[in-house]
Amino acid sequence: ITVTWLCADGASVTAEVPLGHSLMEAAVAHNVPGVIGDCGGALACATCHVVVESAPIPLPMPSATEGEMLEFTEAPAEPSSRLSCQIKAVPELNGLILRVPGP
Ligand code: FES
Repeated sequence: ITVTWLCADGASVTAEVPLGHSLMEAAVAHNVPGVIGDCGGALACATCHVVVESAPIPLPMPSATEGEMLEFTEAPAEPSSRLSCQIKAVPELNGLILRVPGP
């Protein structure tokens, strides 16, 4: 699926993400600045924070643990903030646009 990240510096990265991959893995693979993924997707670091700008379908709600971890993001969480290691590429999300919150 095609996913676009709007970076804090105004640049953007658009990439093809294989189905089943997490959007943290995809961002790291494509060197999206500001998405680190320190914990490898274990919901323990909050360095994979993104804000959903535009989604073709509503994303599943964050789990309780994700909700708690969103309190520890470096940039303040916004209403549509997510931890991108918890979002998997599924066909319905083709065209998803994420924003990487700035410092
Ligand atoms: Fe650590 Fe997502 S990669 S919480």
